Amino acid sequence: MAVMRAGGFPFLREGVDWWRSAVVYQIYPRSFADSDGDGIGDLPGITSRVWHLAALGVDAVWLSPFYPSALADGGYDVDDHRDVDPRLGTLADFDDMVAALHGAGLRIIADIVPNHTSDRHPWFREALASGRGAPERERYIFRDGRGPGGAEPPNDWQSGFGGPAWEPVGDGQWYFHYFAKEQPDLNWDDPGVREDFRTTLRFWSDRGVDGFRIDVAHGLVKDLSEPFAPWSEVAEVTRADGTHPLWDREGVHEIYADWRRVFDEYDPPRFAVAEAAVHPTRRARYASPEGLGQAFNFQMQEAGFQPDEFRAVIDAGLADMRVSGSTTTWLLGCHDTLRVATRYGLPRDPDLNSHQVGQRWLLTNGAEPVADLALGERRARAAALVLLALPGATYVYQGDELGLHEVPDLPPESLQDPIATRSRGTAKGRDGCRVPLPWTPDGPSFGFGPGGAQPPQPAWFGRYAVSVEADDPDSTLSMYRRALSLRRSLTSEEEFAWVSDPDESVLHFVRPGGWHCVSNFGGAPVELPHGTVAVSSVRLEDGRLPRDATAWVLVED
Ligand code: BGC
Repeated sequence: MAVMRAGGFPFLREGVDWWRSAVVYQIYPRSFADSDGDGIGDLPGITSRVWHLAALGVDAVWLSPFYPSALADGGYDVDDHRDVDPRLGTLADFDDMVAALHGAGLRIIADIVPNHTSDRHPWFREALASGRGAPERERYIFRDGRGPGGAEPPNDWQSGFGGPAWEPVGDGQWYFHYFAKEQPDLNWDDPGVREDFRTTLRFWSDRGVDGFRIDVAHGLVKDLSEPFAPWSEVAEVTRADGTHPLWDREGVHEIYADWRRVFDEYDPPRFAVAEAAVHPTRRARYASPEGLGQAFNFQMQEAGFQPDEFRAVIDAGLADMRVSGSTTTWLLGCHDTLRVATRYGLPRDPDLNSHQVGQRWLLTNGAEPVADLALGERRARAAALVLLALPGATYVYQGDELGLHEVPDLPPESLQDPIATRSRGTAKGRDGCRVPLPWTPDGPSFGFGPGGAQPPQPAWFGRYAVSVEADDPDSTLSMYRRALSLRRSLTSEEEFAWVSDPDESVLHFVRPGGWHCVSNFGGAPVELPHGTVAVSSVRLEDGRLPRDATAWVLVED
C-alpha cells in the first residue's frame, strides 16, 4: 500500500471546527423554492424545505445573496448589505429561516460581496450626484477619461463579463467595474468602506449566521497607478508573485486579518471561506487561521472524469491542507458552472479542460457534440462518492443531489446572466444551471411554488423531482442520503492514504476505520476489497464494480 498522509489535524474542537469536514449545500435562493407564487424563490420557501436538507444529511447551507438587488448579476449586485430583498422576504423571514435551520442542526453561511456594490447602492448614487472630485467618489474607483473631454476610457481594460471595464458618468470621469456595469468596484483604501463591512459582518453574526463565503476574495485591493499595463498583459493571468494589478495583492490579507478579529469576537468564532481564483501556490494564505480560514479549491470543476486528473486534483488539495493547516474544499459545480451531470457526458477535447468543453457546448444550445446524459449522470454519482470520502469539506450545489442536468436551450428572452448579454455571443452564461428546482413530477412549476418559474423549466425536469427520487432506492438522491448518513458515522479524522492498484483506471484510497473508496474509471468490472459494501454509485455486477462507478467498502482491520 503506497501511503500518503494528508496533514492530520491533531485535535478537533467541539462546536468550533465543524466546518473542517462539513458537507455544505449551496442554495441559490431565487431558484430553490418559491412560497408566494411570483416565480422567484424566497426565504420562506427555504424555511418550508428545511426537511429536504435534513433528510439529505448535510451539515450547513451556503446561501447565495438574498439582499436587495436589481438582479443584474443574480443578486451579486447588492443595494444594501444589511437587508433582505423584498421579493425574497423580510429580516423576520430571515430570522425564521435561521431558527428552522439551527433547529434541524444545520449551520448557515451567508455570501458577502465586498468587491463591489450595485449601482443602486446609496453610496453609488451619492457618488454620481456629488460630482467630480467629491469625497463621495472615493468609495469607488473613479478616474478621468483620456482625450478631449475625457471621452475615452482611462485604459483598455476589459470586464470579466465582456466589454470595457470602465463606464462614463457624463462629466469626463469613468468608474471601474470588473463585472457588469451595474457592479461598480469599491475602493478598499477608503476607511469608511472598511468600517461598513465590519458592521455588516457583525450584523449577520448577531442574527445567528455561522459563517461567510467571501465573493471575489482576491480582488479587493487593486493597483490602479499609472502608467497602466495594456490589457493584453493583464487579462486572465494569475501570478505567483502578487504583482497582478487586480488580483491577489498583499493588501487583501490585512483586510482578512482585520475580519478575523471580528469573527473571533463570537463564540464559536465565525467561519469564512474565500472564493479566490489565485495561483495554486497562493491559496493557503487565504485559508490561514489568521485570515479567512478556508479557501475554495475549484480544480475539480475543471477536471475531466479521468483517473489521472482526479488523482492530481486530490493530491493538490491534500498538499494545500499540509501547507495551510486548514482543510481544502471539494466541489463538482456551483451556480457559475455547467452542471456536472452534463459536463461528464460531453466528449473530451485534448486541447480544452472539462469546464471549457462545457462552455463551448453551451454556445450550440447543447446541440453539438451530442452529450451522453446517462453516462454523465452515472459519472457524476461516481465522482460525488469520491468527493464525499475525502478529508476536508465538500460543497454540493443545489440540484446536483438529484443528478439534475444543465438546461442548455433556454429561450433567449429568458436569459438573465450579464455574461450572455455583454459577451456579444461569445459566451452563453450561467442561467442553465440556475433553473428552479423540481420538487414534484408535475404541477405548473414542478412544485417549486404556486406560480411559474424563471428561467422556465423544461418538460424533462419532472423526472428529477425530489419526491420522485425519494421513492426510488436507486436514484441519485437516495445514494446521496445513504452516503451522507454513513459519512457522519465514519470518521472525523483527516488521515488519507492511496492504495496502489495495478489497474491504472482504478483509484483507491483508504480513510481511518477501514473506509475504502474504490472507483473504476473504465474497462472491465473490478474486484473490491473484502468487506462490507456500504454504498455504491451503481449496482455491482457479480460483486464487482463496473466502469464509471464508485463504491465504499468497510474493511475490518
Ligand atoms: C460569483 C458570481 C458573480 C461574481 C461577481 C463570483 O465569483 O460566484 O456569481 O457573478 O462573483 O460578484
